[in-house]
Amino acid sequence: MSNKHVTLNFPDSNQSVELPIITGSMGPPTFDLKTLHKNSGYFTYDSGFAATAACRSAITFIDGGKGVLLYRGYPIEQLAQNSNFVETSYLLLNGELPTKDQYDSFDTEIRYHTMVHEKMKMLMSGFQYDAHPMAMMVGVVGSFAAFYHDWMDMSDPEHRRLAAVRLIAKMPTIAASVYKNSVGQPFVYPRNDLNFTERLLHMMYAVPSEPYEPNPVAAKALDLLFMLHADHEQNASTSTVRLVGSTGANPFACVSAGIASLWGPAHGGANEAVLNMLDEIGDVSNCDKYVAKAKDKSDKFRLMGFGHRVYKNFDPRATIIRKACHEVLNELGVNDPQLELAMKLEEIALKDPYFVEKKLYPNVDFYSGIIYKALGIPKQMFTVMFAIARTVGWVSQWLEQYETADTRIGRPRQVYTGPTTRDYKDFSDR
Ligand code: CMC
Repeated sequence: MSNKHVTLNFPDSNQSVELPIITGSMGPPTFDLKTLHKNSGYFTYDSGFAATAACRSAITFIDGGKGVLLYRGYPIEQLAQNSNFVETSYLLLNGELPTKDQYDSFDTEIRYHTMVHEKMKMLMSGFQYDAHPMAMMVGVVGSFAAFYHDWMDMSDPEHRRLAAVRLIAKMPTIAASVYKNSVGQPFVYPRNDLNFTERLLHMMYAVPSEPYEPNPVAAKALDLLFMLHADHEQNASTSTVRLVGSTGANPFACVSAGIASLWGPAHGGANEAVLNMLDEIGDVSNCDKYVAKAKDKSDKFRLMGFGHRVYKNFDPRATIIRKACHEVLNELGVNDPQLELAMKLEEIALKDPYFVEKKLYPNVDFYSGIIYKALGIPKQMFTVMFAIARTVGWVSQWLEQYETADTRIGRPRQVYTGPTTRDYKDFSDR
């Protein structure tokens, strides 16, 4: 920490408070408000955390103005080009790229933990066939704590590490089972000779009556999407995981809460919402009408897959996905009119003064749904795919928080706007 500070002067007294400036390794300077209330009686108000850092973290860095995303210092473009999801997971969890031996043993450990407790199948089969997959994910992942309670002493680093590995390894198994429940097919056990995304495809699409081999193009495309979604610093779901984790709750409860947060259409649910929106727009000739609706403040419609709290320039993940989208559809021989529609919408919005002035660019979810669709993944499963990938980010952030000495329970303040003190009245006086 530097010994620089900012001074806050208070208008209704001659009081002033000095607040130390914290500088990270990259990113804007930050002043530390921890002692503000104690020394001045004031709170600060920052709805939506627009300018408030809630933690220190060494995992992921975003420069929203420049469109930069780094995992542990490595640019997302380099990882997308050269790495894979398992290696990226190791990097996020451990801070460094693995040696070959470290990679092999991590990969083996993930493969080893892919099975889930048999009784989880009973839990899953209790859901209606048309249950939303994210609703099932919230419940089933939360229930992990009931199955692995013998490994829940989180003060033990090995228990923590194993919980993280279990979550990363079992998430695809749960996701595929959730899918099988919706189509009324039997659950398929993980085939550990396959790699991470091949195994997921196999569990989703294999049936007992026919042989199934996952398509390598589809597996590679999923792997890319998973790398791009693996972490994104203090987004809503990660902050949820951290807030729940700050109470000392177990990591399965934390990740279940993260899944619930991800489900919202302003966050991970946007990938499903983008395809629903493209369905609604229907044809290129309707793009202008829907762009006008998105700009109309009296209309609740927003252009889904556009805009971001942090990126005020192109979302670097969207740039990579846009390119991949064309390649994957070509390689799979899929001709999807929704891709043309999405491109037209993007073209119109990028020229429109409303979107230009507000710096609203396509985000990661704008094109990802079109790839998922080309892979045969139903819309309701899109956010589940996001959850599989983001699990590594959630557990990395949970571990980091657990292992940070100055972690305190998260407990925001408020500006109270309700009635002032008043006396209780009997029914007859109300
Ligand atoms: N369509 C039309 N107008 C928009 C949009 C949009 N997609 N996004 C933001 N705006 C306008 C908004 O109305 C506001 O206008 P004004 O200043 O006149 O009030 C201005 O742009 C700033 O928007 P904001 O809502 O204050 O920004 P935010 O940082 O609170 O919200 C967001 C960010 C991502 C929730 C928002 O842009 C949005 O709702 N986008 C659509 C949903 C979406 O694609 N979400 C995925 C985000 S990326 C992946 C992830 O996080 O999971």
